[in-house]
Amino acid sequence: MFRAQCGACHGPGGAGGAAGPDLTTGTMKRGNSDESLFQIVSKGIPGTPMPGYGASAKEIWQVVAYLRTLSIGKAAEQAKGNVERGAALYTQHKCGGCHELRGAGGWLGPSLDNVGAERSIGHLYAALREPNSDVAPQSWRLRGKTKAGAAVMGVRINEDTFSYQYRDARGLHSVAKSALSEAALVTESAMPSYAGKMTEAEMDDLVAFLANCRVGGGR
Ligand code: HEC
Ligand code: HEC
Repeated sequence: MFRAQCGACHGPGGAGGAAGPDLTTGTMKRGNSDESLFQIVSKGIPGTPMPGYGASAKEIWQVVAYLRTLSIGKAAEQAKGNVERGAALYTQHKCGGCHELRGAGGWLGPSLDNVGAERSIGHLYAALREPNSDVAPQSWRLRGKTKAGAAVMGVRINEDTFSYQYRDARGLHSVAKSALSEAALVTESAMPSYAGKMTEAEMDDLVAFLANCRVGGGR
């Protein structure tokens, strides 16, 4: 779909063409969240040659997912900050209280061991500035109560018709839905926004550190 509909302007691999900008740099100047990409692809950018694309929501999400893959794995080379200073900021801001990295850290957030290989640089900035813009369903939290009255709280890793699998400070658990008297999913991020809590240069350093968190080949 991308090659047929977008390649003529953005180049067949998305790296920029005669009539459209490079989409592989990892930072979209019109917005980095999945929502803003969805809007751009479905409605176009008024006043520019970028057309809206009249496809089903499902097809548009597929194009957005494809756009994301164009910049994955390139975050480290695109980062402009200082990795060592970023490492110090990671410690100073206690990110490890929620995230596991290299065998140590908390459980509430996802492991960051390979985040530099899995995420684009735009996603890393968005994760720090607006954590709520894009919370993966694997990070939603289960908040419930068993029929016996015990609180159930953790990160919902998975769910099927009959049970929830979730993670808390003690590890992985599975609970039958029939054993719960209450269950709600919290879809907001548990992560605070760091916008305004550090300078832009510090944000660049922290992103450079994250971009270099890669299993095999990271620093
Ligand atoms: C007729 C040429 C043309 C076609 C076809 C086209 N685009 Fe664009 N696109 C542009 C131009 C020009 C811009 C830059 C507009 C601006 O910001 O001034 C743009 C911008 C974008 C942006 C925003 C980039 C940024 O940095 O914020 C995205 C994302 C995008 N296009 C995706 C697509 C996708 C996906 C398709 C196919 C479904 C597509 N475009 C088809 C010309 C095109
Ligand atoms: C209170 C707990 C908490 C703290 C403190 C915290 N995070 Fe997070 N973080 C989360 C949770 C939960 C998520 C998953 C939900 C989301 O995407 O916002 C997350 C997501 C992320 C992501 C996106 C991961 C991905 O694969 O999409 C990155 C990157 C990240 N955090 C980095 C950091 C950094 C760097 C710090 C310190 C400056 C930090 N976090 C502090 C809880 C936390």
